[in-house]
Amino acid sequence: MKVLGIETSCDDTSVALYDSELGVLENLVSSQVDLHDHFGGVVPELASRAHLVNLLPLIEVLLERRRLAPADLDGVAVTAGPGLIGALLVGLSTAKALCWSARKPLVGVHHIEGHILANLLSGTMDLPATVLVVSGGHTEVVLMSEVGRYRRLGWTLDDAAGECFDKTAQLMGLPYPGGPVIDRLAERGRGGRFELPRPLTRDPRLVFSFSGLKTAVRVLVESLPRPLDDQTVADICRALREAVVDVLVQRLFQAAREHRVRGVYLAGGVAANSWLRDRVAREAAAGGFAFRPPERVYCTDNAAMIACAGHARLAAGFSDPLDLDGFARAPLASWR
Ligand SMILES: Nc1ncnc2c1ncn2[C@@H]1O[C@H](COP(=O)(O)OP(=O)(O)OP(=O)(O)O)[C@@H](O)[C@H]1O
Ligand SMILES: [Mg+2]
Repeated sequence: MKVLGIETSCDDTSVALYDSELGVLENLVSSQVDLHDHFGGVVPELASRAHLVNLLPLIEVLLERRRLAPADLDGVAVTAGPGLIGALLVGLSTAKALCWSARKPLVGVHHIEGHILANLLSGTMDLPATVLVVSGGHTEVVLMSEVGRYRRLGWTLDDAAGECFDKTAQLMGLPYPGGPVIDRLAERGRGGRFELPRPLTRDPRLVFSFSGLKTAVRVLVESLPRPLDDQTVADICRALREAVVDVLVQRLFQAAREHRVRGVYLAGGVAANSWLRDRVAREAAAGGFAFRPPERVYCTDNAAMIACAGHARLAAGFSDPLDLDGFARAPLASWR
């Protein structure tokens, strides 16, 4: 089965081809980072317009490279939400038009299910599992009993982990998106120079909070002589990365032990973080949980994960009508 995936929920235009026998055959991403960097974050209207310009040429390139016509596809999977509604509508309308003209099934995918199922792109998942979803807009612990069956166990009370990295990077004058930059600079940082709080770690609930950490970095930055020298920035990045990862790891394994799962997994852009991947690998080995970090290219937004999630639904006999709506917000629901 060949499934075309389309992802336009935020600032990356992506199209992919997933083959149930061969895996990911194409995964093309046109990034808008340069467009939004100047504003320190994503400007929704600019994102929609850039998707409009980029999406059809990307689909054409993909089909030409594979010498395929829309008629050769078995279905089109598209992110229906959550995300920026104008950006989502560009992907949805394109997917619907393709499905209508080539008479192919359409399948709408929840973006977070896409991030979770990116783990299937490098092998099977040991289920049941707890999945730490950490991205620009989400920080959640999800109990996954099978593909299509999810229960949200934990969530953030305010900012997401990726948002925390992006906003603190801005405070230090670093480029957008801040997560990968902070991760890189943290490698050169010296430990022990700065201590940042681990918010809510004493709270018995499975909850996160990152807005206090952002404030702590702002207070720290304001207390230091300006401009910050390179070593000081690296030392702050190291302290921040350790603080964020500490709370994420604590909650992921708390949930894993409580629910006696077989595997633990990471999903979303922050799953590309080197320190997070190392810490989870070590704790999983010590606790007897299966773990395999998702390939970095499939952590941040990409259409391969959407095609893979769409394939799972199509293979189980699910598809959506051509009047499928997009949605800006909605929790991940089970479909099985
Ligand atoms: N190596 C890294 N370390 C930490 N954070 C990272 C790293 N690489 C990317 N990120 C962060 O990942 C986020 C982007 O991830 P993703 O593309 O999944 O987010 P999004 O799609 O905008 O949000 P959502 O998936 O919640 O809708 C950004 O906040 C970015 O800073
Ligand atoms: Mg995402």
